[in-house]
Amino acid sequence: MEQLERIVERAHAAFQAAGDPAALENAKARFLGKSGELTAQLKSLGALAPEERRSAGARINAAKEQIERALDARRAQLADSRLQARLAEEAIDVTLPARGRGRGGVHPITRTWQRVEAIFGSIGFDIADGPEIESDWYNFTALNNPENHPARSMQDTFYVDLKDAQGLPALLRTHTSPMQVRYARMHRPPIKVIAPGRTYRVDSDATHSPMFHQVEGLWIDEDVSFADLKGVYTDFLHRFFETDALQVRFRPSYFPFTEPSAEIDMQFGSGPLRGRWLEISGAGQVHPSVVRNFGLDPERCIGFAFGSGLERLTMLRYGIDDLRLFFDGDLRFLRQFA
Ligand code: PHE
Repeated sequence: MEQLERIVERAHAAFQAAGDPAALENAKARFLGKSGELTAQLKSLGALAPEERRSAGARINAAKEQIERALDARRAQLADSRLQARLAEEAIDVTLPARGRGRGGVHPITRTWQRVEAIFGSIGFDIADGPEIESDWYNFTALNNPENHPARSMQDTFYVDLKDAQGLPALLRTHTSPMQVRYARMHRPPIKVIAPGRTYRVDSDATHSPMFHQVEGLWIDEDVSFADLKGVYTDFLHRFFETDALQVRFRPSYFPFTEPSAEIDMQFGSGPLRGRWLEISGAGQVHPSVVRNFGLDPERCIGFAFGSGLERLTMLRYGIDDLRLFFDGDLRFLRQFA
């Protein structure tokens, strides 16, 4: 039965030569498959005499077991080397230096926002935040803009598929002024607050964006006068622009929610904008009807409000002439502020 030993040897060699599981299965078929070498030996048993058949059968079975053991051993070897290869391939060198994180900067509008909060905060103003999706009542009616009043067309906006408490469509607030009413209805005088945030209008060119930022200011007490508005706002501008070399003027204007109303202009005494008057804010003494909508008695409570554009303040501070730069996300522009 030398032949059997040779078959076992050849099987061993064939299994060792198989470099991957598929090749190993092919090699297995050559020995243990239906027409494999060992199977042929088993088939030949039928031709032997019964006594010989038993011992020959036992030897063939022993050979078969050897081949199967060799097969299992090779399978295990291949599986192990595959695992080792994958481990090597996916190894992470934990000693490599990290890639580091890209460091962002604060957006110029956010810088202005923070600066405005710091300055007003330092003179005792609270800071409030309110909804950008607003009801018609807070955005217009409570601010003395009756329904169908033509002043509403000064501020065309985006309407939202939502109804407010009066059944009117909700809208994206056109200014931060609704925050005067929201805040005043929740606090008792003295009321001294600023409310910075995003606002929306149907407008788009070099100096208008459909989304922009304002900061509302409101100071209500029993004896707050227009002179206080002038003092507070002028002081704010001096501090914001870090110069006293700037003139501030209150030019008569109209807003339904203030009376008298003013447009606040400023003139730089130095720098590239020297001598030019620039409009910076709307302002005025809060209208008695609005004070009533605050839930307060206009005979007792009086004060002022203002609403300034944060983009405007930022453009003047840094000498930027196109407001769209703020929203393009161009890193060449933004990096200058980082
Ligand atoms: N809300 C006004 C605007 O957006 C500005 C303003 C605020 C005017 C407060 C007067 C008082 O144009």
